[in-house]
Amino acid sequence: MAASVTEARPIRVLALGGSLRAGAFSTRLLEAMVDIAAPALAVEVHAGLEQLPYFNQDDEAEDAAPASVRQLRNELREADALLIVTPEYNRSVPATIKNALDWCSRPHGTGSLLGKPVTIVAASPGPSGGLLALHHLRQIVHAAGAVTVGTKELAIPSVYQCFDADGAFADETVRGWLAQLLAELRASVVVPAADYARVDGEGWSL
Ligand SMILES: Cc1cc2nc3c(=O)[nH]c(=O)nc-3n(C[C@H](O)[C@H](O)[C@H](O)COP(=O)(O)O)c2cc1C
Repeated sequence: MAASVTEARPIRVLALGGSLRAGAFSTRLLEAMVDIAAPALAVEVHAGLEQLPYFNQDDEAEDAAPASVRQLRNELREADALLIVTPEYNRSVPATIKNALDWCSRPHGTGSLLGKPVTIVAASPGPSGGLLALHHLRQIVHAAGAVTVGTKELAIPSVYQCFDADGAFADETVRGWLAQLLAELRASVVVPAADYARVDGEGWSL
């Protein structure tokens, strides 16, 4: 019988949330996505975007980069894919996200974003949903050599309406959109064969 490949481990996704404030809508949306994604996708939210210093090209090399940058880059390298959920600040992405992506885009040609599948979502209490932030984010991600995934362009307006009086995520329509994006992200990931060890002629495992 021909050998088959079974998914012996969940796909690893690193997530970046664009807001640093407590109780942020975008963070709550990201938390909802972590739940929706499980168990097929293991989403780890990066803690520490606010600890990254401003990008400085003098320090971009791996041996010169600050520890917080090396930590983020390593998490990204170990992830199969990246998820970014962001608010819109002044018709663009917050500086936290831009700064993190600048660090991960360098050194040129070897950045940890290179070739990485990325799903991007914007959210706003306002009527635009942060669509301009989403467009800027797409450009930044592409410039860094990563690949955006998802047929839906998800900029969620009136994001407060996604949550019930207790703060729980409760919008079934948006849940469906998020689930579709996450399924597309999962489908885009090719798990390296090196992550599997052949057991016998019929299956593989870690
Ligand atoms: C500096 C700043 C700029 C903002 N600019 C925009 C904007 O361009 N478009 C928009 O829809 N909302 C804008 N807002 C409102 C945010 O959408 C709102 O504060 C939102 O709750 C922030 O996201 P969060 O809840 O995830 O932190 C801005 C807020 C701040 C603090």
